[in-house]
Amino acid sequence: MQKIVHLKSKKHSMIIKVGRVPEILHWGANIAKIDPDLILSTERPISQARLDVDVPLSLCPELGSGHFNAPGIEGHRHGEDWAPVFEMKALTCDEQSASFTLEDTVAKLELLIEVKLDFNSDVVQKRITVKNVADKEYCLGKLSSTLSLPNHANELMTFHGRWCHEFQTQRLSFEHGGFMQENRRGRTSHENFPGLFVGSKGFSEQVGQVWGFHLGWSGNHQLRADVRSDGRRFVQAGELLLSGEVHLKEGEEYQSPWLYATYSNTGLNGISERFHEFVRANIIKFPTKKARPVHLNTWEGIYFDHKPEYIMQMATEAAEMGVERFIIDDGWFIGRDGERAALGDWYLDEKKYPNGLEPVINHVNEQGMEFGLWVEPEMVSEDSNLYRQHPDWVLSLPGYQQPSGRWQYVLDLQNPDCFSYLFDRLNDLLTRYNIGYFKWDMNRELVQPGHHGKPAVHGQTKALYRLFDELRLAHPDVEIESCSSGGGRIDFEILQRTHRFWASDCNDALERQAIQRGMSYFFPPEVMGAHIGPAECHSTNRRHAINMRGVTALSGHMGVELDPVKESAEEKQAFAHYIQLHKQYRDLLHSGRSFRIDPADQSQNIYGVENGEEMLITVCQLAMPNHALPAPLRVRCVEKEATYEVKIVEMPHTSFQLMKQRPQWLDQTLTLSGDNLEEIGVTLPILDPESALIVHLKKM
Ligand code: GLA
Repeated sequence: MQKIVHLKSKKHSMIIKVGRVPEILHWGANIAKIDPDLILSTERPISQARLDVDVPLSLCPELGSGHFNAPGIEGHRHGEDWAPVFEMKALTCDEQSASFTLEDTVAKLELLIEVKLDFNSDVVQKRITVKNVADKEYCLGKLSSTLSLPNHANELMTFHGRWCHEFQTQRLSFEHGGFMQENRRGRTSHENFPGLFVGSKGFSEQVGQVWGFHLGWSGNHQLRADVRSDGRRFVQAGELLLSGEVHLKEGEEYQSPWLYATYSNTGLNGISERFHEFVRANIIKFPTKKARPVHLNTWEGIYFDHKPEYIMQMATEAAEMGVERFIIDDGWFIGRDGERAALGDWYLDEKKYPNGLEPVINHVNEQGMEFGLWVEPEMVSEDSNLYRQHPDWVLSLPGYQQPSGRWQYVLDLQNPDCFSYLFDRLNDLLTRYNIGYFKWDMNRELVQPGHHGKPAVHGQTKALYRLFDELRLAHPDVEIESCSSGGGRIDFEILQRTHRFWASDCNDALERQAIQRGMSYFFPPEVMGAHIGPAECHSTNRRHAINMRGVTALSGHMGVELDPVKESAEEKQAFAHYIQLHKQYRDLLHSGRSFRIDPADQSQNIYGVENGEEMLITVCQLAMPNHALPAPLRVRCVEKEATYEVKIVEMPHTSFQLMKQRPQWLDQTLTLSGDNLEEIGVTLPILDPESALIVHLKKM
């Protein structure tokens, strides 16, 4: 007997037909009521010259039932039980969640498929658990979450990247075949962000139907989108397990990471709106409800050259500029004079800090700032006391010499002694010093990640989460930033335990425009670390005026990363100006609804945030404009009948090169109604390449 499960949220429905296995019939716009003929009207024909039975594209497709694309589960028992076919055993559900228990009595496996639809945000969560119910061990190769999509989802948007170039996007046709991403780097990675979008042809920021996906996992993953030869299509995501990584004894279980997904009929804006709402309500746990403090991070200012007196001078000047949290980056611990040594020796370098760290921290606190410290706990340098004492604490494979990365190795967190050492060192730092914030870095990939010779990325990732969890339990008020050579570990699961991401080591404002835009599809601005760097960017040698740098950093969780002592009075004044502007709009930026506007000219990046009362829109001219005159800025996200005060709150400070005469309104406040703003828009000045302006709208 077939049954229907109807999950409902504020705006969406997911309708699942439950026969031998559960299968999605609809996932998208709200369906008011289930028609009695729904099952009949969705019955599929059977095509000539193929299997004689209909094969459902279920929530866990099976090879053994005739699904010839990627199965949801793979594994074996010494070569047997490798093609399980499941049958529904039990179902529990309400309007927002369903749990399907399935069994295969031949292969002796049980599956628990959990699907939840968050009422407020319309975000779906799905995970699968497999249990071995035989007395013979089962070697699991794969357990992924599958969600099917309608046939008009025929265009893909995927992510790629590398160090200093995170969150880059590409479009692919999605008519035949598919897309597959395998991440084997042992961390979320710059290269393979675990997310993608599928939508109706040409979907854009503001237009089209889109389904968005993100796997919350910080280790290896596999993410794919496939179109079957019969036109049915699906997205599948799960942990990528190395050969022999997971063995289940009788009664043991493996649980997949959560797959997060949502639907929008207002383009990518509807997707990011929903992910942000979900993340704000369910993932981020700030210890207190304070405003996100403006940072100064010492890295690009002084690198490894630590002199306490000088750092205190930096702190004084930082506070004068309006900085609220001062972070000492790499270089503070014993023997850390460069990147080749000392990771693992988490004791203060008393040669650099003969009077201890306390005077610096006290000084920072006296300036009214919180103090933060950089750590990279999972790592060890070959040239370190820790490595000399415990070379066997490294994740490695006996008999092989693995390559180092940044001259360092990864510690085996599943080794209990190593785990306790790290917990004790971090706990000691947090107990001894008044530290409000850790920047937790992770600067290399996992190569030959063996624990007692066995593959261990799964175990390492779980142990890492446990290290975070135990520390946070002991120090609940401390905030943590997830950094991994910039944006190498950005995902929802690490965000359950952290409070900010270092989006990229690239502080080049032009590059940041693309990086931050890509990141903004999933993560709200308050967790996106964005810093004003020096005029000449350290990672690209490109130069930008302060307008471009200030505006770009302003819309995230803002900071500065340079040596204020060495900057001119004029630059310092400008930093203070952008910090002040950020603080003025910080509440709006960090709680409002973020959106992006489809630009008429691809040389512009236009994005904003609004809360019903106010709106802030940034127009960034990335490159030479396409036409001599820019298209008017048409603002869609407003109430049509309301009246708004519109004014420019930030413009390039240098003289304009491409514009002879500016529109008069730039120096005035306009009063415009919602429909005028949406249908006619306001003219913009001709911006020179790599400059930006900010418009503020206030409902009257
Ligand atoms: C990584 C981080 C940087 C900085 C350095 C310090 O590269 O991404 O922000 O902290 O390490 O070594």
